[in-house]
Amino acid sequence: MTTTLIGNTPIRRCDFLSTLYCTNIFIKEEFHNLGMSAKDRPAFFMIQDAIERQRIQPGGTFVEASSGNTGLGITLIAKQLGYQAKIFVSKSCSQEKINTLLQAGAEIEICENSNGLHDFHSTQFHAQSYAATHPNAYFTNQYYNTQNIRAHYKTTGPEIWEQTAGKVTHFLSGVGTGGTISGVGRFLKEQRPDVCIWGVEPKGSILQHYLSHRRTPEKVVPFDAIEGIGRNFVPGSFDPQQVDHIFQVEQESTKAMARLYREKTGILSGFSSAALLASLACHREEMGFTPEHTVLLFFPDHGSRYVSKLYSDSADFQTATKTVIR
Ligand SMILES: Cc1ncc(COP(=O)(O)O)c(C=O)c1O
Repeated sequence: MTTTLIGNTPIRRCDFLSTLYCTNIFIKEEFHNLGMSAKDRPAFFMIQDAIERQRIQPGGTFVEASSGNTGLGITLIAKQLGYQAKIFVSKSCSQEKINTLLQAGAEIEICENSNGLHDFHSTQFHAQSYAATHPNAYFTNQYYNTQNIRAHYKTTGPEIWEQTAGKVTHFLSGVGTGGTISGVGRFLKEQRPDVCIWGVEPKGSILQHYLSHRRTPEKVVPFDAIEGIGRNFVPGSFDPQQVDHIFQVEQESTKAMARLYREKTGILSGFSSAALLASLACHREEMGFTPEHTVLLFFPDHGSRYVSKLYSDSADFQTATKTVIR
């Protein structure tokens, strides 16, 4: 059964980063999950919850708005359980993710953006409309589904605590829906209130401002996409109580760090994973790591999903074949 292939992912020490930053840096490798990303965890919890509460009948369609990874988790699990999957992705989604979704059996629609339910051209708006107008269709809605946080509270947090033998002092994660940082943050803070829970988002995203001021900025500006992270609205799955700080990074330094990391370790990091690497490089002084610290970097997926965007010199990432629905 698919569920045995979700969770219990390895944590490995990264000697290159540990030496570079004079501390102990470990990486939780979520690309070992069934669909090769952390998002299998909330996908499974949301599907299980919908079935248990009879919000969908056998053979029905699970609908999701996703940068690709949640969509893939939903598709793989839904298909195995005898359901269909309809996934709304934004046009910034990598071609690799789109191809994988199609191969997994998802029906996909490409939308203009993923700016939330208030935007009529967003993935979320289209997903909600679709589920509301089609029989036996259920919108899992990772941005507002409590099972998203719960999946990480129940699985990812305890795994990190056990695998580091309770030594973790800092947890760094990209923030998209906020489910990972909120669920893991809550669990780790219950074990150890002095743990630092730090998020990373692209420059121009609004969650750093929201965390400091508890309101969105007056002016919301477009920002360079780093797939999976960064928002111009505050998702319900983001719990500011569990987060101590959010660092912002530039897309360019993220790409540069992905390439440096590949050169030094031979590993292709995912796009948002490389954003964590950029945050270490750009905010080193502020982070103030010491040899006594145990720092956990959460890598939600793998660089193979972003070869054309991150590692190919001739990257033309807005592939001409994409048709955007309006
Ligand atoms: C590649 C990647 N990184 C980071 C995230 C953000 O995780 P979360 O939605 O739990 O904040 C996502 C979410 O889809 C993702 O796909």
